[in-house]
Amino acid sequence: MARASRRFVCQSCGSVSPRWLGQCPDCGAWNSFVPEAPAGIPRRRPAPGGQPAAFVPLAVPVALPERLATGIAEFDRALGGGLVPGSATLIGGDPGIGKSTLLLQAAGRMARAGRAVAYVSGEEAADQVRLRARRLGLGDVSLALAAATSVSDILAALGSRPRPDLLVIDSIQTMASDLVEGAPGTVGQVRAAAHELITYAKAAGAALLLVGHVTKDGQIAGPRVLEHMVDAVLYFEGDRALSYRVLRAVKNRFGGTDEIGVFTMATDGLVEVPNPSSLFLTARDRPVPGAIVFPALEGTRPLLVEIQALTVRLASGATPRRAVVGWDPGRLAMVLAVLEARAGLALGAHEVYLNVAGGLRIAEPAADLAVAAAIVSALADAPVEPGTVAFGEIALSGEIRPAPQPELRLKEAAKLGFAHALAPPGTKGALEIRPCAGVATLVDRLGARRALSRRGPEG
Ligand code: TYD
Ligand code: MG
Repeated sequence: MARASRRFVCQSCGSVSPRWLGQCPDCGAWNSFVPEAPAGIPRRRPAPGGQPAAFVPLAVPVALPERLATGIAEFDRALGGGLVPGSATLIGGDPGIGKSTLLLQAAGRMARAGRAVAYVSGEEAADQVRLRARRLGLGDVSLALAAATSVSDILAALGSRPRPDLLVIDSIQTMASDLVEGAPGTVGQVRAAAHELITYAKAAGAALLLVGHVTKDGQIAGPRVLEHMVDAVLYFEGDRALSYRVLRAVKNRFGGTDEIGVFTMATDGLVEVPNPSSLFLTARDRPVPGAIVFPALEGTRPLLVEIQALTVRLASGATPRRAVVGWDPGRLAMVLAVLEARAGLALGAHEVYLNVAGGLRIAEPAADLAVAAAIVSALADAPVEPGTVAFGEIALSGEIRPAPQPELRLKEAAKLGFAHALAPPGTKGALEIRPCAGVATLVDRLGARRALSRRGPEG
């Protein structure tokens, strides 16, 4: 047997090192290594000679997993149709974003629908949870509530009760397992506690919802180490200064990962937003330069967002800044380079700021054309004609390429009162299309050519 010795575990990614390191070589986090006892998840002693594993045929009819509706349609949508019994789902997100609120609302609704629900809070006392439930209008529901942090205590209590359909653990960072040493929240503890709870849920056929806090400082184990242990990972995102929240699946063994659920945080809890497009649009009386609406697609759901750009001319010699909120900085650099090389825009002496309004994050290359339009409009100081949307992918050659699902995007834009779309040639749909074959055409269509040439060769 190997001598048990100390080892150091990165609290950000779970990487193990025999020595303390200042920076993690795997994830790059600083000061993230803490000493932990080497005992990990206990293993069974292998049988002498090994037990033959069962190989079975693949082509056997199987039933689709049964789904438990949470009663919150936006949550069910992000889950790919509801919770799967015997599965583990991790809900990650910054502290204060609304994870406890969401899970208590889901637990309450399921309990109301006659499901057996066990809700364990390791962060709040029972009375705090009761008060929150009252505020959410769920003060009268019948669910089993425990304020506990010891996994063995929790499992012992669950063993003596009827099996729950839903087990909520808020949060996994507060849970303590007897199987390993170390303080709750360390990677070893988080992993061992999750392993015990997942094993229980699988055996009992309960749907397990784990809350995981994401922190940047590496003191509390990020839920990233759990991502491979659970069946589904959902992130609850949003700007805490703004009221809306997006629930986004990043892993789902039972469904797609591109669906999102949208909520707003109200005084009486999270309210579903079945039609979120109007949420991200800025209402204004007069059009402003540098703003255009992009019909985005999140999974099967179209979502209208405003893209905003600002360009600032610098004195010669200074290095211009490029800052992006809500989009990929690398993609912005590419769009700027293409605008310079293929449309003759001189952006080298300009700072460029790009913002996706409302704090939403966009990952689609289909946003390229809207981004380019916002930049051209900002640079020319000429507002885009009201009622315009833009979408299409920009190639390095400057050509505009089709984006997936144009009809869906255009239908949504038409529904919200938009009249025309800057889009790749050949696009058909509910709006008047103003085709843009390349970025040079885009500049002409925006009526920016004169304004840009008036400003001289430096733009
Ligand atoms: P919470 O669910 O406690 O966040 P998390 O579990 O992710 O840490 O919710 C945090 C915030 O939500 C808190 O600042 C208060 C606010 N909130 C409301 O605005 N309305 C409500 O009805 C509730 C319960 C919370
Ligand atoms: Mg909480």
